[in-house]
Amino acid sequence: MAQRESWATRTGFILAAVGSAVGLGNIWRFPYQVGEYGGAAFLVVYLLLVALVGFPVMMVEFTIGRHTERNPVGALKRVGRGAWTKIGWVFIAAGFVILSYYSVIAGWILRYTAIGLQGNYAAGGAGEQFMSVAGGMGSVVTHAIFMAAIITVVAFGIQRGIEFSVKLMVPAIIALLIGLAVYAGTLSGAGEAYAYYLSPDLGTIAANWTAILPAAAAQAFFTLSLGMGVMITYASYLGEDRNLAKDGAIIVALDTAIAFTAGLVAFPVLYTADLTDVVDGPSFIFVSLSEAFSNVPFGGILGAVFFAIVTIAALSSAISIMEVVVSYLIDEHDVDRLPATVGLGIIIFLVGLPVAYEPNGLNWLTVYDGFANSILLILGGLLLAIYIGWIATDLGLDELSKGIQDLGSWGIVWIWTLRIPVIIVLLVVLTQNVIGYYDSLMGIFG
Ligand code: PHE
Repeated sequence: MAQRESWATRTGFILAAVGSAVGLGNIWRFPYQVGEYGGAAFLVVYLLLVALVGFPVMMVEFTIGRHTERNPVGALKRVGRGAWTKIGWVFIAAGFVILSYYSVIAGWILRYTAIGLQGNYAAGGAGEQFMSVAGGMGSVVTHAIFMAAIITVVAFGIQRGIEFSVKLMVPAIIALLIGLAVYAGTLSGAGEAYAYYLSPDLGTIAANWTAILPAAAAQAFFTLSLGMGVMITYASYLGEDRNLAKDGAIIVALDTAIAFTAGLVAFPVLYTADLTDVVDGPSFIFVSLSEAFSNVPFGGILGAVFFAIVTIAALSSAISIMEVVVSYLIDEHDVDRLPATVGLGIIIFLVGLPVAYEPNGLNWLTVYDGFANSILLILGGLLLAIYIGWIATDLGLDELSKGIQDLGSWGIVWIWTLRIPVIIVLLVVLTQNVIGYYDSLMGIFG
């Protein structure tokens, strides 16, 4: 077995995990979910779920990863018994599906960066422009370019590839996004936008919680990169002297702050251009937001910066997904890193082709995203919560306490949070999402 690498520095690990967490989830999905589910009401439920469900599950992944020093499949083979040894496969499957469409969307975002630089947002109509970017050969080409970038970074390995690149990417994302948010605050629609974004209406939550809860839970998992073994894999390169809870808290806080800041950019731009009730859903940033950019002062360059941020964020996440599947081949099948990365990159590129090519629609995106994001991730997280909560409790507690001077009763609080509330929430959400997914498939194919 090849010698395993480890992170060179503590910051390296934290930035890699933040890089994984901060991605399309924060800047592409988050604003449109806020729009779809009632503004600030969604924000509140999402924040609660991040703290009460996301953080405990992140600790589960960290403890399993650091304890076993393995990829998710190998990790569960080591610690699990019986059927538990098999659940690592859920993660690998999720990784394949997510990366395949993630790269496609990232490719569109790359195109939108270029469109902004040329000052061409919404030329010929925002909707038409998006359809021409999002389908056909152009979209296949940008998907290929993005996959090539992922392969390049991951082929260089943990320290020289991932750690090196996140040290550049994450600070750039934060600095540029804050700059844009400050500028957006000077736009004429800012006041109205903040009112919408920041004052939750409890009535909306109460009336729509059956819709808000599953969406917010799926969002919390997706944005924190949970439920597909990224955090298992990244923690497997970590030393025992590290305080997992503290690192996790920093990662969760930064990820949440960045999603929140993305809203501080998107909504003022939208309100300033008076485009508040146009398209939402997955095409939101491409259609509504790009059109809005075409209507505000310096919109082309602002939009280009915005889409550049999203491209970088997507890359820093995509490499973490790739690392999960690559580390599996390296650990379990002794394949060298370079052929593993190139081979998997090509396969995942092919898996994404239907999403990339589909002209005039996003049906394949809905099929892929619904399956991976709202089902596989939640299922993966649920299984892990059951495993550490009820079965391998000692393993979890032991591992968590390493590197923490005085865990006190927090360990028990963590275990009981997993045992009851986390499991109940995830079960309810999984059921709802399976039903929702079935309905959306019927809508498409039925
Ligand atoms: N967290 C990433 C984002 O917000 C997506 C992701 C999901 C990455 C699952 C890895 C694993 O865009």
